Amino acid sequence: MSHVRGTMLYASPAPETDRERLIRENDLVVVVEGFNAAVAQRIRIGETFVSRHGRFPHAAFVGVAFGTKIRASDGRGFVHVCAPTPELWTKVLAHRTQILYAPDIALVSAEMELRPGSTVLESGTGSGSLTHALARCVAPTGKVWTFEFNETRVKAAAEEFRANGIDEVTTVTHRDIERDGFPEELASTADAVFLDLPGPQKCVASVARSLRPNGVLCTFSPCIEQVHKTIVEMKKHGFADIKTVELLGRHYDVEGRCLQTDLSAPLSKETKGGWRKDQKRPRDGATEDSASTLTETVVAHPQQRLQSHTAYLTFARLIPAPENWTETLAERAKTSESGNEEVLKRAAEFLAKRRGTKKRYRPQSDAPKQPSKHVISNPDDYSD
Ligand SMILES: C[S@@+](CC[C@H](N)C(=O)[O-])C[C@H]1O[C@@H](n2cnc3c(N)ncnc32)[C@H](O)[C@@H]1O
Repeated sequence: MSHVRGTMLYASPAPETDRERLIRENDLVVVVEGFNAAVAQRIRIGETFVSRHGRFPHAAFVGVAFGTKIRASDGRGFVHVCAPTPELWTKVLAHRTQILYAPDIALVSAEMELRPGSTVLESGTGSGSLTHALARCVAPTGKVWTFEFNETRVKAAAEEFRANGIDEVTTVTHRDIERDGFPEELASTADAVFLDLPGPQKCVASVARSLRPNGVLCTFSPCIEQVHKTIVEMKKHGFADIKTVELLGRHYDVEGRCLQTDLSAPLSKETKGGWRKDQKRPRDGATEDSASTLTETVVAHPQQRLQSHTAYLTFARLIPAPENWTETLAERAKTSESGNEEVLKRAAEFLAKRRGTKKRYRPQSDAPKQPSKHVISNPDDYSD
C-alpha cells in the first residue's frame, strides 16, 4: 500500500498509519476549525484552504505533526490539522445517505464485540460512515464485507475506501441483500452482522446462516413496528438475548462561576448582574465589599441542542445449537430407550435458556414419558 493514497489512521494495516509521523503531501487530513466545524483536505502543495478563519496554504501543513495548530497566512485566525480517524471522517464525509453517528457507532462496535481479526458483514453501505469504524475495529487481520444495492453508492464507497486506505480490510459489493441474502460462500463465517436496511426482517434467515454460533446481529431501525417484525424473525431463527436500545445523548457545558449571594447589595460590576465567569481577576478598584458577597460555584447547563431520536438498535445473539442438534430430536427419541427423556430434558433446557427463565425440566417419575406441549419434538418446529 502506498502512502500516496493517504491513510485512515488505525483503520489500515499499513505501517505509515503511525500517528507520530509528520504530515506529507497527498495525505488526507481533517482541518478542525472549531466546535462541530471540520473539513477533509487532501494535501497538495500549491493549494490553499480558505475559511472564515483565514487562508491556509497546504504547504504550511506539510512537515508538522497531526494535531498541530496552524495560524492563517493572513493572520486572521487558526485551525488544527488532525489525523483522519473514523470518528472525524464521520463528521466530514460527503452524505450520500443518512449516516450513523459516533454514539450509535460506539455502542454498535462494543455490543457486536468487534476486535482485530473479526469478520463482520454489513448492509447497506450507504455513505460508509459505519464502515470506516468497523474497518478500524477489525484491522489489520479481520474483514468487513459490506453490501449495497445502489450501484452509484457502491462505486463511490469503493473509491473512498481505496483513497482512505481501508480497502485491504473492506470489500464493498453490489447486491440486494433483502432479495438475495448474504452470499453462500460467507455461510458460518461472520462474528457479527449489521443491518441498516428498510426491511431487516427479510434478511434474518440469511443472517442466521452467515453467523458463527454466538455471533451477534444488530439492526438499526427508525420505527418500532419494524423492530417488532425483526424480533419475531429473530426468535424464529435461533436468536436469543434480544434487546432494543435507543440512545439519547445529553451534552453539558460545565464551568466555574462566582455567584453574588447577597442580592440586596448593589449589583457588582464584577458579576455583571449576579454572575461572573471564573478565573477572571477582580478589576482594579473592586471593593472588598463586592468581593465578600461573591461565592464560587459550579454551573452545569444542559445544551439546548439535544441529540434526538436516530433509531432503535436491536441486538441479538445466535445461540449455539446443542450438541447433535442436526440429528432430529424426534428421531433420537424413537431410536434410543432413554432417548425420549434425555431429548426432552435438553430441549426444555434449551428453550428455558432462550426465554431467560430458570425453570428446569423435571420428568415426573410416574407420568408416561410424553412430550409436553412446551417442548419441541422436531427441530423444524423450532420457534417460540
Ligand atoms: C441509511 S443507508 C446506510 C448508512 C450507513 N449505515 C452509514 O453509516 O453510512 C441505507 C443504505 O441501504 C441501501 N439499501 C437499501 N435496500 C437495500 C438492499 N435490499 N440491499 C442492499 N442495500 C440496500 C440503500 O441504498 C442505502 O444506501
